[in-house]
Amino acid sequence: MTETPAASAPTSARDARIATHSHIKGLGLDENGQALPAARGFVGQRAAREAAGLVLDLIKQRRFAGRALLLAGGPGTGKTALALGLAHELGQKVPFCPMVGSEVYSTEVKKTEVLMENFRRAIGLRVRETKEVYEGELTELTPTETENPLSGYGKTIAHVVIALKTVKGTKQLRLDPSIYESILKERVSVGDVIYIEANTGAVKRVGRSDAYATEFDLEADEYVALPKGDVQKRKEVVQDVTLHDLDMANARPQGGQDIMSVVGQLVRGRRTEVTEKLRSEINRVVDKYIQQGIAELVPGVLFIDEVHMLDMECFAYLNRALESPISPHVILATNRGMCTVRGSDADGEAGIVAPHGIPFDLLDRCLIVRTLPYDENEIREVISIRTRTEGIVLDAQALDALTALGRETSLRFALQLIAPASILASTSGHSEITLEDVQTARLLFNDARSSARALSANTMDIA
Ligand SMILES: Nc1ncnc2c1ncn2[C@@H]1O[C@H](COP(=O)(O)OP(=O)(O)OP(=O)(O)O)[C@@H](O)[C@H]1O
Ligand SMILES: [Mg+2]
Repeated sequence: MTETPAASAPTSARDARIATHSHIKGLGLDENGQALPAARGFVGQRAAREAAGLVLDLIKQRRFAGRALLLAGGPGTGKTALALGLAHELGQKVPFCPMVGSEVYSTEVKKTEVLMENFRRAIGLRVRETKEVYEGELTELTPTETENPLSGYGKTIAHVVIALKTVKGTKQLRLDPSIYESILKERVSVGDVIYIEANTGAVKRVGRSDAYATEFDLEADEYVALPKGDVQKRKEVVQDVTLHDLDMANARPQGGQDIMSVVGQLVRGRRTEVTEKLRSEINRVVDKYIQQGIAELVPGVLFIDEVHMLDMECFAYLNRALESPISPHVILATNRGMCTVRGSDADGEAGIVAPHGIPFDLLDRCLIVRTLPYDENEIREVISIRTRTEGIVLDAQALDALTALGRETSLRFALQLIAPASILASTSGHSEITLEDVQTARLLFNDARSSARALSANTMDIA
């Protein structure tokens, strides 16, 4: 994908480096939606992948809103991996907000407040505006300093002179010091192509001018052509934000011109309350934008892992939120079978026992996809993919041993042993992991089941 990051990516996209799943690059389906045996890091689990592919299509056609997908299956069968694969397929422009059920329990914030925030993180807004801008390659950047009349020390910027060049010509602009700040923030230097919005003074760096393309042998920068036309022009600017971004941007105190501005700057960056009133205010403005055709709603995906950790109150909220007209697509995952719904057994009442620990009324709104345990070949394949991504070499016997371990214990345990085994291998001077290293690692670490067995044999005695 060749999208430019930062400039248009939703800012609330959390850092997506989830290391245990870094080999998963998508769902690995062919053009007919059939699962390939092993593709894009995904192995086996074909029915579930195809189902996820169908849901992906529905999401892309925006026909899945108000419904939820529930991934159910045993531990380590790839539910989380499936959801992340789906997120990869959706691409950068559709917001994807992952959360874990237990995130709602906080002593400071209400449970439903956390859910609401995540819902709003998962709803994108694409704003298309034609703006008056000054665009061109920066050829001159000269800040002019003066003595600061208010404090004895230091100097302040009085104004800044810049020159912007386009194919047609060069124009010199004299700018307010606040714009100089945003120039610094965007890390603009001479030779970059930038644009400045005329009415807000916001500065955006488009890329480095391609006249400088031969400056370095290796470059991480993006090169863009010298803009055509006049420096001052009307330009269509597309911005992707989430409703949560808008909430946050409007909740932060804006620094004014008085003494309060100092306080404002201290508070800035810290979380302030996003009130219900603010949200409805923002919804109103967004509605207006949508009606005027300036903005377009992009419903994204909210992924709630370990959904059985939610309680009655949250489930009731989910039901309601799913039915709101601006609901995102919701994906839930759980590894529980029949169990008591959390929070239903309060005050000594007998709890409600429900499949997956999810009340029936929510379950009724879900499409349920099962993930099945892996067979030996699939385990072997996942282990080899994983070692390749981690840049580790296994010999054949070690791979067999790990595969067997994966069958006896769990896939996840086998995957977890790779890293310690590779360290053992390097300390004992092996260039690749051998059977011996796997066995030593196995002796050093217990898997969940053998640990449980040992504990119950010794009754409650941990020592
Ligand atoms: N089909 C698969 N192909 C490749 N890797 C997989 C596959 N299934 C699972 N994995 C990998 O195995 C590990 C465990 O899978 P994952 O975390 O998705 O399980 P889970 O179903 O979410 O389990 P839990 O219920 O315990 O949360 C992860 O590192 C995951 O990336
Ligand atoms: Mg999981």
